[in-house]
Amino acid sequence: MTTLADLRKDYARGSLDETSVDADPIRQFDVWFKQALDARLPEPNTMTLATVDARGYPSARIVLIKGVDERGFVFFTNYESRKGLDLAANPHACLLFYWIELERQVRIEGTVVKTNAEDSDVYFHSRPLGSRIGAWASDQSRPIESRALLEAREKSFAERFGEHPPRPPHWGGYRLVPETIEFWQGRPSRLHDRILYTRQSAAETWRISRLSP
Ligand SMILES: Cc1cc2nc3c(=O)[nH]c(=O)nc-3n(C[C@H](O)[C@H](O)[C@H](O)COP(=O)(O)O)c2cc1C
Repeated sequence: MTTLADLRKDYARGSLDETSVDADPIRQFDVWFKQALDARLPEPNTMTLATVDARGYPSARIVLIKGVDERGFVFFTNYESRKGLDLAANPHACLLFYWIELERQVRIEGTVVKTNAEDSDVYFHSRPLGSRIGAWASDQSRPIESRALLEAREKSFAERFGEHPPRPPHWGGYRLVPETIEFWQGRPSRLHDRILYTRQSAAETWRISRLSP
């Protein structure tokens, strides 16, 4: 039987060079994200969100990216969930994309801010009705006695709001404003390419450097 220690793969699908990457990491991210879409990867829009709580303890979970532009990376969630409480106490967070078929990962570190109410409303109202009711029914991250109770809550909110549930006040978006963005491309013999963009606070520019693999 194969042991875990024997599982390994050599990466040789692409390369990344500091002289040919875009000067702007958001445009570079757009290029890679489009390539992930074109390659028909399963759910390339999933990303790991890591947060740190008030005690300094980290946790991570998957969320869906719902927007990206020069202002940052947007996702939506319950502000009173475990991640929401973490971010209220400590707004520093990290996002990680792993596109296995392209042998790529992207790590984004920065600070989150809440999206404004209008942006949260627009996205909330674009969701299927079931998801909008679900946002009311679930006290995300809190213990619940049973599945039956969750479904009873869903039914009760569906009856209360019908086709037009408003956005719950505890539900909305966060925008992670990046300080650093690292692009990682797998290369043979573990000599991977790692290109790091660091925001230069004075100017709206980015410093590009290469990291050892
Ligand atoms: C593919 C996938 C996509 C998910 N997308 C979201 C999302 O966009 N927002 C969200 O709040 N939770 C999402 N979740 C659920 C989270 O991973 C997590 O279970 C939930 O947000 C509670 O996390 P917390 O207790 O750390 O706050 C997703 C899970 C998976 C597997």
